[in-house]
Amino acid sequence: MQFTDLGLAEPILRALAAKKYASPTPIQSQAIPVLLQGKDLCGIAQTGTGKTAAFALPSLDHFARNPKPTPLQGCRMLVLSPTRELAAQIAQSFRDYGRFLKLSVEVVFGGVPINRQIRALGRGVDIVVATPGRLLDLIDQRAFTIKDTEIFVLDEADQMMDMGFIHPLKRIAKLLPRERQNLFFSATMPGEIEALAAQFLHDPVKVSVAPQSTTAERVRQQATFVNQAEKQALLTLTVRNEPIDRALIFTRTKHGADRVVRFLEGAGIQAVAIHGNKSQAQRTTALQAFRHGHVKLLVATDIAARGIDVSGVSHVINFELPNVPEQYVHRIGRTARAGAEGVAISFVADDERPYLKAIERTTRVKLDIVPLPENFVEAVRNLPKAAPQRKGREQTPEQKAKRAEGQRRYQDQQQRQQRGGAERAHRPDGETPAKKPFRRRRSGVGAHKAAVQRTAR
Ligand SMILES: Nc1ncnc2c1ncn2[C@@H]1O[C@H](COP(=O)(O)OP(=O)(O)OP(=O)(O)O)[C@@H](O)[C@H]1O
Ligand SMILES: [Mg+2]
Repeated sequence: MQFTDLGLAEPILRALAAKKYASPTPIQSQAIPVLLQGKDLCGIAQTGTGKTAAFALPSLDHFARNPKPTPLQGCRMLVLSPTRELAAQIAQSFRDYGRFLKLSVEVVFGGVPINRQIRALGRGVDIVVATPGRLLDLIDQRAFTIKDTEIFVLDEADQMMDMGFIHPLKRIAKLLPRERQNLFFSATMPGEIEALAAQFLHDPVKVSVAPQSTTAERVRQQATFVNQAEKQALLTLTVRNEPIDRALIFTRTKHGADRVVRFLEGAGIQAVAIHGNKSQAQRTTALQAFRHGHVKLLVATDIAARGIDVSGVSHVINFELPNVPEQYVHRIGRTARAGAEGVAISFVADDERPYLKAIERTTRVKLDIVPLPENFVEAVRNLPKAAPQRKGREQTPEQKAKRAEGQRRYQDQQQRQQRGGAERAHRPDGETPAKKPFRRRRSGVGAHKAAVQRTAR
């Protein structure tokens, strides 16, 4: 099948030719005809097989054929993503696939000033890609509305319906119009979460290219049993011995990610970390450096496990195994994308063996067990020390005072959150709620009218 057979509008075909896409992938050829009919869809396909285009192309086609002015402070299409980096990447895909159409695309997520986003959304946009926290902040500030949304997409849908995101998602769903097209996509969809999808979808078509949680095709999956305390030595050896073009190394914790980077640096190996404790500027810089090949090793928490598409990632290393098996599928899916090959290496400590079992059961794949390298004992003995924790530059008294003030405010905020809405305190995207706009109390005629209404009630 060719893209021309799908009946997509000419400007879209031109953009695909510019991207040198020869033919649609299986999820694209199966999902696009259904979506062009305006039906709801739940699409399951392996990592790296082009799900983004599967939801972007038919939606762009809809806008190309049904041009309309953008709704004031609103959008025609809303795409939700679990992380900021993925939201930015999806928005870029829409810009690429829609480059010959005159459509506006905006991305909104936390960690950056909200005012620029308020300005950008003011006149309305065709397509908004958002993380749920910042989207709700914008709605709460009356800076944005989603009541005119024609197409609603949940990328990484199973994660968006999981515990961390389900409350914001329910709120968002209530604010969407009844009449809309819903598109849910993921590589994994555990049965109990799929059942939840019924409340958001209307008579959906299910397209499943492979059974859910099938790992990417051309990825060699290995595991090595090793003591937790000796993993750093094994990592250093692995990085030295493997023919790595670019590798993503996953740790369970943010602190753990920083530690791994310091040990690698201590051994003279350059690496950067990306996780939720980093500022947005640091996160963006780290991912950019990795994307452009300025740094070969990116150490990450699960923040980078889903959706991130960097070409040339030859290896994924699980420094620790994830305790949710589906997350393994996504992590190792950062390699072997778009027909490429890749290697996934997992370091398994004794207490992680049950996780390995669960992963093998879920993915229906047995990992190749690779023994420790011959020179391992020696490597453990000679492991260089971690590089010292980087301290900031010497601070002036003003800077110190400003920092202390910031910390005090942060602690106050934490205490307030603990006292108040638990839901907001546990926002999964780690966004801090934006301040409510200052609203003047009514006085004069308005106040009188409100008082009359109150007594009338
Ligand atoms: N028809 C196509 N021909 C060639 N390359 C394609 C095609 N469709 C998508 N791609 C490329 O494949 C890569 C993976 O696509 P995408 O990120 O959409 O995968 P995905 O299925 O969403 O993966 P994940 O589950 O990890 O999110 C991208 O670099 C994209 O440009
Ligand atoms: Mg994707």
